[in-house]
Amino acid sequence: MDVNEFAANYYRKRKDTDSLKWDALKERYGDENLLPLWVADTEFSVPDAVQQALQTKIKQGIFGYSLVPEDYFSTYENWQKRHHQQTFAKEWLFFSTGVVQALYDLVDCFTEKGEAILIQPPVYYPFFNVIQDKKRQLVTSDLISGPNNYRMDFADLEKKIKKYQVKLSILCSPHNPVGRVWKSEELRTYLNICTKNNVLVIADEIHSDLILPGNQFVSAAEIAKEEGVLENVVICNAPSKTFNLASLLNAHIWIPHVKQRESYQNWCQENRHTENSSLGQIAAQAAYQSGDQWLNNFLALVTQNYNWIKEQLYQYIPQIEVTDLQGTYLLWLDLRKWIPPEKVKYYIQDQAKLAVDFGEWFSTETKGFIRINLATSLANLRLVVKCLVEVNKMVKFEENYSKSNKRRHYKNE
Ligand SMILES: Cc1ncc(COP(=O)(O)O)c(C=O)c1O
Repeated sequence: MDVNEFAANYYRKRKDTDSLKWDALKERYGDENLLPLWVADTEFSVPDAVQQALQTKIKQGIFGYSLVPEDYFSTYENWQKRHHQQTFAKEWLFFSTGVVQALYDLVDCFTEKGEAILIQPPVYYPFFNVIQDKKRQLVTSDLISGPNNYRMDFADLEKKIKKYQVKLSILCSPHNPVGRVWKSEELRTYLNICTKNNVLVIADEIHSDLILPGNQFVSAAEIAKEEGVLENVVICNAPSKTFNLASLLNAHIWIPHVKQRESYQNWCQENRHTENSSLGQIAAQAAYQSGDQWLNNFLALVTQNYNWIKEQLYQYIPQIEVTDLQGTYLLWLDLRKWIPPEKVKYYIQDQAKLAVDFGEWFSTETKGFIRINLATSLANLRLVVKCLVEVNKMVKFEENYSKSNKRRHYKNE
C-alpha cells in the first residue's frame, strides 16, 4: 500500500464525532470555523487488527473488571526489539490512564512540595502545569536554537540543577514541539549530569515510535543501563500517539529500580486505585502485534506531508523558518521574520482560519512560533498553504501601506 492508498483507506472525517480537536473549536479558540491543526492526535483510523480485536471484545458485550492480557508484555517486548532493539523488563511495568496523569503521579511520589523540578522549554505545556499544580518549584533550562533545530544547553542545565538543588527533571524524548530525536551522546551527557547531582529523570517517551527516516530513537533507559544508572530513570510511554488511541486511556510507566518501584507502589496504595483499561490494552496489544505495516505507512505519510509543506513554505513564504522534523508529527514554525509576534493570532487564527498551538504556550521565549499537526490529509495541508499564501498578500499589502505612510509622514515633516 502506498501513501495515497493509506490516506484513502484510513482518513476519517471527524467533525461532529465529539472529537476534541474538531468539535471543541468554539470553546477553545472562540471560533468553530477553523481548520484544526492543534492537539496531537490524527485523522487516521487504527490498524485493521485493532478494530477487529476491539470488535470481538465488544461483541462479547461484557466490560467487567479485567486482567492485563496474558501476552501483553511479550507482545510489547517483541515490538520494542523489532523497532528500537531495546529491552524493558516485565517487572518494571505499571499502567496509567495517560502519560500526563503518570507525570502528576510520579511528581507527587518522588518529590515534596516546594522542591525544584527542571524542564527544557520550549516544551509540551502540561510539563509546566504539573510542576505548578503540584506546587513544586519550576526551573527551566531553555534549549538552544539553530541553525535548523535545537540542542540542550548542558552548561546551563548543570548550573541550574546545582543552583536550585533540582530533585527531578522531566525529559521529553523525542521532543515536542521541536521534533528532535535525541542522540545517544546527548542523552548520555544529560543523564550523567542528572545522576552526578542526584536528579531523578522522568523520560516522557510517548513519541518514541514516531521517528522519521534517517533518525534512530534510543530510550533513556537504554543509555542509563549502559551507564549503570538505571536507578535514576523512570520511563513513560504509550501506544496512544503511535496508533491514535488516546481516549482508550492506556499508558505505561516503567520503573527499573526496585527501590523506586516500592516507593511508587506505596504511593499508589495511598493515592491511586485505578483499574486497567481493558479496551485500551486489547487495542494496544493488537497494535503491537500487527501494526508494523500500518505504522510504516503512517510515517511515510507524515514524511511526505512534512517534505511537501516545507517545500511549499520555502517557495511561497520563505520568511517562515521550518524546524527540521526528526520525530513526532508536530511541526514547529518560526514566523518571527514574517509577521510580528503580537500579530500571529490575528493573521493565523482570525485571517487564515487555522487552529494551531501558539509558541507562547511552550515557552515565554517563543511567542511568534506556532506548532502545526501534520497527521492529516494532503488536501487539508493544501488548504493550510492556500490560506497562508492569502494572508501573505495581506501582510505584504500592510507592510507596503505602512512604508508608504512613513514616507508620507517624512515628506510632511
Ligand atoms: C510529550 C507528550 N506527553 C504526553 C502527551 C499526552 O499523553 P496522554 O494523552 O497519555 O496523557 C502528549 C500529547 O501530545 C505529549 O506530546
